[in-house]
Amino acid sequence: MQDFLHEIKKDANELKKHNTELIKVISHLDADGLSSSAIITRALTRGGFKFSLATVRQLDDFLFDELSRENFSTLIFLDLGSGSIKQIEERFKNRTIYILDHHKPQDHKPKNATVINPHYYNIDGSKEISGAGIAYLFAKALDSANIDMAHIAILGAIGDMQENNGFHSDLNNFILEDAINSGKIEVKIGLRMFGMQTRPINKVLEYTTDPYIPGVSGNELGTKKFLEEIGLNFVENGKYKKLVNLTDEEMKKLVTGIILRRIGSEEKPDDVLGKVYLLVEEEDENPLKDAKEFSTLLNACGRLNKPSVGIGCCLGDKKSKEEAIILLLDYKREIINSLNWFYANKNKFIEGPGYLIINAEDNIKDTMIGTIGSLISKNSMYKEGTIIITMAYTIDGNIKASLRTVGKTKKDLMAITKTIVTKVGGIGGGHKYAAGALIPLDKEKEFIEATKEVLKAGIMEKTIE
Ligand code: C5P
Ligand code: C5P
Ligand code: ZN
Repeated sequence: MQDFLHEIKKDANELKKHNTELIKVISHLDADGLSSSAIITRALTRGGFKFSLATVRQLDDFLFDELSRENFSTLIFLDLGSGSIKQIEERFKNRTIYILDHHKPQDHKPKNATVINPHYYNIDGSKEISGAGIAYLFAKALDSANIDMAHIAILGAIGDMQENNGFHSDLNNFILEDAINSGKIEVKIGLRMFGMQTRPINKVLEYTTDPYIPGVSGNELGTKKFLEEIGLNFVENGKYKKLVNLTDEEMKKLVTGIILRRIGSEEKPDDVLGKVYLLVEEEDENPLKDAKEFSTLLNACGRLNKPSVGIGCCLGDKKSKEEAIILLLDYKREIINSLNWFYANKNKFIEGPGYLIINAEDNIKDTMIGTIGSLISKNSMYKEGTIIITMAYTIDGNIKASLRTVGKTKKDLMAITKTIVTKVGGIGGGHKYAAGALIPLDKEKEFIEATKEVLKAGIMEKTIE
């Protein structure tokens, strides 16, 4: 870790020499990418740099063509670029290039690009640090005042699923400490459930699948009965209260009730509490208060094509926050519609040994297909290790595909994706645990066949350490 930090410091000092040049920042537009953009744009503003920002879904030739027509002398790639080091180097020969990314880098050492990537230091970027984490470390190396953005890096890490009842790497914990020390984040122990700040208790309980509550999870009436059984008054003004509004005593009773209900059927009945990350400066009962809800909100902004609203939220802009809360509702509606389509069609998907291919065609937005894949993989319908491939048509004549796995797998999804796109054409990349691809629409059948073949053959059954 020290060597990595040392390199970042050196590279940040190098960037300061380009202070008079025009910089173009190119960033991914998911929660991690937007967090990275927020951190770097504020850091560049603070440092007196002149820059412009583009947030993109992925790098492709079309984007490279566009960038090469612009006259920025320095390009900074955030949360992407590692899979395209060679192309970037070839396309932008006379420019200064920075790639700040946590995806596994291509096996190519560039001469004219600075690639800041944890994998070069034996740090697993898919689990140990996010794109926003790297952007943060770089920003902090530029100017120690940027420590006031550590919490934004935490939002990115949560968005990339690096939090699982705590962060489990030195780098993420180091960043979390900065966020706590700068007074931006407070860590508490609470119920490991989504929506503590915003959803009524009955909905939080009904929608929770991990931890699972027998007779309550997925059961509206069961939830109502369960809350009545606990014997507390969870209703106020005719409405269920939110978790955040319970007194300590009420919370204790609720937790005990949940644990009792889980005894006998669940492996660890008392495993219902976990870390909750609260943004100190945000108000209660607001999705920006809880880092997990905030990161979902960033995904909503990215997926609904309003990246600047998400970046504004990270930087504390009041108008952006108001707009984002409305976007979050649209996003939830979009998810519900997509999941309804999934449940209504679940017998029509291509199921094989250890995999499921869901071709949504134009029934699900291409921008939502990754999120839907993640949600399906988290629901307990399929066996651990099953690979879920979701596909949807894009508006510009391509197919967006996402690969996820149910629980743990020994397979490397990024390697699988690369093998498939090498066979059928298109572009793809990602991490061991989550990968994606973009392929031409006329390759639909070929893509499905190649996917089946690669998955059946068990190619890439590399053991993940
Ligand atoms: O490009 P980037 O690394 O930022 O994106 C990672 C994506 O993979 C995120 O959308 C995240 O939600 C998803 N992911 C996942 N399960 C994991 C790790 C990441 O769904 N275990
Ligand atoms: O888009 P999705 O959420 O499925 O992406 C999962 C992972 O795959 C992300 O880390 C993303 O950056 C990567 N990906 C990629 N190239 C694509 C699509 C996704 O590298 N064309
Ligand atoms: Zn990322």
